[in-house]
Amino acid sequence: MQSVIREKLLSALSDSPDDFLSGQALADIAGCSRAAVWKHIEELRKEGFVLEAVRKKGYRIIGSPDSVTANKLKIGLKTKTLGQYIHYEETVGSTQKVAHELAANGAPEGTLVIADEQTDGRGRLMREWHSSKGTGVWMSLILKPLLPPQKAPQFTLIAAVAVVQAIQETTGLEPQIKWPNDILINGKKATGILTELQAEPDKISSIIIGIGMNVNQTQEHFPDELQSIATSYGMVAGRSLSRSDIVQKVLERMEALYELYMAKGFTPIKLMWESYAVSIGKRITARTINGSIEGYARGITEEGVLQIEDDTGQLHHIYSADIEL
Ligand code: BTN
Repeated sequence: MQSVIREKLLSALSDSPDDFLSGQALADIAGCSRAAVWKHIEELRKEGFVLEAVRKKGYRIIGSPDSVTANKLKIGLKTKTLGQYIHYEETVGSTQKVAHELAANGAPEGTLVIADEQTDGRGRLMREWHSSKGTGVWMSLILKPLLPPQKAPQFTLIAAVAVVQAIQETTGLEPQIKWPNDILINGKKATGILTELQAEPDKISSIIIGIGMNVNQTQEHFPDELQSIATSYGMVAGRSLSRSDIVQKVLERMEALYELYMAKGFTPIKLMWESYAVSIGKRITARTINGSIEGYARGITEEGVLQIEDDTGQLHHIYSADIEL
């Protein structure tokens, strides 16, 4: 549960990190009693914030945890809508499931569901998504665009561009996208995106964009079968990274791209997506439920569908497949 008082206290303390703020000043800012300030400061300490208290001076913040709690994510978040309501749970089956329930019960656009650990994380095609505690980002974002349901797959590609740009900006790494939803770093999977829909026949009610980011895992965190194909941003960067910085940047990039998409359509996003895509122009094999198609990946359509040209020159439209490079 988000506490408005704790949010106000943290925002005031973070805005002036070098200064002490008196108990009374904090009580005035948060609109509560000094006793309540003390109680909320204790709660923040339990969350991992390091708050110094000096008699006659007051409080100041000198450290914050590498957590992805609502309190942590709200500090310095520069979005207007995305992540303005955050539902955090330490351990959850799947953030995707929670987001579906919240969306069905009227959660506002931009609601973020995020957890420190998932015990039943789900990937595409109902595969398991390994989500170990405190190492990665396991989040689901609820959007409510006024659009027909056919547009929903484009949101996977918008999210992929947002994630690539966020990783670039926060880590300096150069990720690539493997259609439709894998983000690779040095050729290994570091992020997956799962877009799901609640819709009426002619209009989207909610899009739930699930994003799983491997941030600080080391080799041992991955199960045996993933060791050769999965990686984390931290493993490639060679240092531990701030999960909250990455989430904030994803929300900021996603908001900017979502606004661009609603104003100008899919074309500008498509161009960005293609510039990050690993497979365009390369020979690939698409394994679909109707068999395999081999050929050169030529690009994506305005709907986000992959186009492959086979050796006879025929162009195939791929809606769902596993891609081998
Ligand atoms: C894939 O590559 O198959 C997509 C993986 C998506 C994983 C994320 S983690 C947060 C959200 N909750 C889930 O259970 N799945 C998505």
